[in-house]
Amino acid sequence: MSRSARPATARAAVTTHLTARQKLATRLAVSGQYGYRSALRPLLFRLDPEQAHGLALRLLALVQRTPGLCSLLRWLFLAPAPELVVTLGGLTFPNPVGVAAGLDKNGLAPAALTALGFGHVEVGTVTPAPQAGNPRPRLFRLPEDRALINRLGFPNDGVEAVARRLRSVRLAPARLGLNIGKGRETPLERAAEDYLLLLERLFDRADYIVLNVSSPNTPDLRQLQARQWLDPLLQALQARNRALAAARGRPPRPLFLKIAPDLTPADLEAIVAAALAHDLNGLIATNTTVRRPWLQSPARRETGGLSGHPLRETATALVRRLYRLTEGRLPIIGVGGILSPEDALERIRAGASLVQVYTGLVYEGPFLGWLIAQGVRAHLHRTGLPHVADLVGQDV
Ligand code: FNR
Repeated sequence: MSRSARPATARAAVTTHLTARQKLATRLAVSGQYGYRSALRPLLFRLDPEQAHGLALRLLALVQRTPGLCSLLRWLFLAPAPELVVTLGGLTFPNPVGVAAGLDKNGLAPAALTALGFGHVEVGTVTPAPQAGNPRPRLFRLPEDRALINRLGFPNDGVEAVARRLRSVRLAPARLGLNIGKGRETPLERAAEDYLLLLERLFDRADYIVLNVSSPNTPDLRQLQARQWLDPLLQALQARNRALAAARGRPPRPLFLKIAPDLTPADLEAIVAAALAHDLNGLIATNTTVRRPWLQSPARRETGGLSGHPLRETATALVRRLYRLTEGRLPIIGVGGILSPEDALERIRAGASLVQVYTGLVYEGPFLGWLIAQGVRAHLHRTGLPHVADLVGQDV
């Protein structure tokens, strides 16, 4: 492979201030990304998208089960980098890049994902009972747009199975988030009961909990973003959170709310007011969009939530708006259309303290997290800023 064939973004990460271990990791990650794009991705893209996803997860689970492999990968890709450490909701994250919810819905491979360099993984969305989700096909690639459309509808093994699976999982120094949602058949009036049960069952497994009220594929779910539903829900959850914490003699779990990109400015103001009133630790912006910007791929007419590159601008604008609205008082986790280190830097400078990726992994491969983290480091060295926190909101 000639050097010029390598992606410019990865090359930028190769150059600055690296220890021998980081140089080795960089070489592996850059070659791994090239290998993924040129060999593995074409093979995976011949399979049905959900089959390909299942295969990738099984490979990651195999990595997780192979003795010593995760420790070796973690040594390489999760080496301490003090300038990247983020503190949020009382938790430290080894770097600002995580895996977004939905990729590992059932907690099959969180240790493998973090060993590849992600500072956190958000498992879920988990519902109280196991669910099959919507009929297939329900996941579509839009390669010309570097996007996906999904209408999965929360297929998952249910909270008991996921909690059991996560019992022995240790990710330190990386963090485990658990993303929870109401069951498909649960009416809005009883949604709080689902979230309370999920909080209770997952309290001892999660470093942080995310209330998903923004997936477009569960009927009525997004209505929970309206204050009439949100206020009582957040109040009940924080009360239970405090009670569970008091019984264990430890602090409550950090709680985040994951919101949709398709909100009006008035909706957004109401959500921020509710989040501040109920002491949430932050907002995760954004979930997939039901809007359809201009798209080229034939699958553009499928119904469901759109993710990936076409979501980037909307999601960045929303983070910027949130940062302005809250004057930085409410931390933001930025997600949506981040496919490169430059995209991640843009999101951090718009106001995100942490970023997450999902669709980017499908198009750029499993080393994307590490490459983004190194891209952020290289940017800090270039600009002379001491810490990633100095970048947050810089463009606002
Ligand atoms: C998702 N996403 C998602 N979000 C969530 O809170 N719970 C979930 O179960 C899922 N499931 C899911 C499945 C699939 C196939 C995709 C593509 C996405 C949304 C995801 O976490 C993220 O918010 C969006 O995909 C935007 O980020 P990307 O994909 O553009 O990086």
